[in-house]
Amino acid sequence: MEEKLKQIQQDYLNKINSSKSLKELDTIFIDLFGKNGEVDLLSHQFKNLPKDELKTVGPLFNQIKQELEKAINDKRLTINELIYKALENETLDIKGGKIKDRKGHMHPLTAFEEQTAKIFNKLGFVQIDAPLIDTDHNNFEVLNIPENHPARDLWDTLYIDQKSKIKNQKLLLRTHTSNSQIRALKSSKPPIRLMNIGRCFRYEAVDARHEHTFEQFEIIYVDKKVSMANLQYLSEYFLKAIFGEDIKARLKPKYYPFVEPGVGVDGLCIFCKGKGCKVCGGIGWLELAGAGMIHPNVLRAGGIDPKEYSGIAWGFGPARMAMIKYGIEDIRVFNSGDLKLYENK
Ligand code: PHE
Repeated sequence: MEEKLKQIQQDYLNKINSSKSLKELDTIFIDLFGKNGEVDLLSHQFKNLPKDELKTVGPLFNQIKQELEKAINDKRLTINELIYKALENETLDIKGGKIKDRKGHMHPLTAFEEQTAKIFNKLGFVQIDAPLIDTDHNNFEVLNIPENHPARDLWDTLYIDQKSKIKNQKLLLRTHTSNSQIRALKSSKPPIRLMNIGRCFRYEAVDARHEHTFEQFEIIYVDKKVSMANLQYLSEYFLKAIFGEDIKARLKPKYYPFVEPGVGVDGLCIFCKGKGCKVCGGIGWLELAGAGMIHPNVLRAGGIDPKEYSGIAWGFGPARMAMIKYGIEDIRVFNSGDLKLYENK
């Protein structure tokens, strides 16, 4: 047994010394100390040895075990040092070469929003900010939607559970970009041409057309003698810029408490050109935006005299429109990180 142990010791020391990589060392370690490795197999044989022999073989076995383990560790350090040395002499040319085949690009929704902002920018509209967490006052009350009014049911609102109210104000996640209206009116004097883009939140039952977190785009335009004619013109101008010259816009009555009259903006269905198909439900038109003449109460809340000025508010959900433009069937892909969204787009 003693002979056998010494043989193993010699064999493995040789193997360790001549090994050249960490991978090789790992294999040696497993052959020695792994399940059914040399050490494992040897220790099973000890129970058959006479007591006398065990007295010398036992300590020798332990000593060899430790020696081999140490030899492996030492060799690991040596190899590591060699690797570090080699790396020290290596250089990385960060200036050289150019990046080939760039694959990354803007999220389709961001690209669509930028395109939208550019279209309105050309018409003189400038972007303003509005907070995503806002007061009940800015999101509803100044928009002619008092507390407890049934019109609130139009927006499934996520209120914030507050320990203490700031200036006695209820906070919520904005349900629409219309919370930018009061800011736009208060921050400037007519003529006002401002736009707001960004996230909105609703307590929605999520499905292929509804998300709890989604984007809206909204403009307001206030000046002397602004009328529904401007609204019709802007709607068609925008839809043509997005979908091409063939599209038409039509306005139909729709209720929003902060506009009077309020309208739904329909675009001629781009799939059937008005003939009626599955997408438009046989109607020939798709509702693409909400809009209307700014309600006198809202103008007044913004410090603007409704007898002197009038204005339009006009807004839509970029995801819904991008879905139509790019043939995307489920709104949820926009926030999913699913790379299928980018295929062939
Ligand atoms: N804020 C409305 C909504 O979220 C859309 C809208 C914007 C309607 C501007 C009229 C004018 O449903």
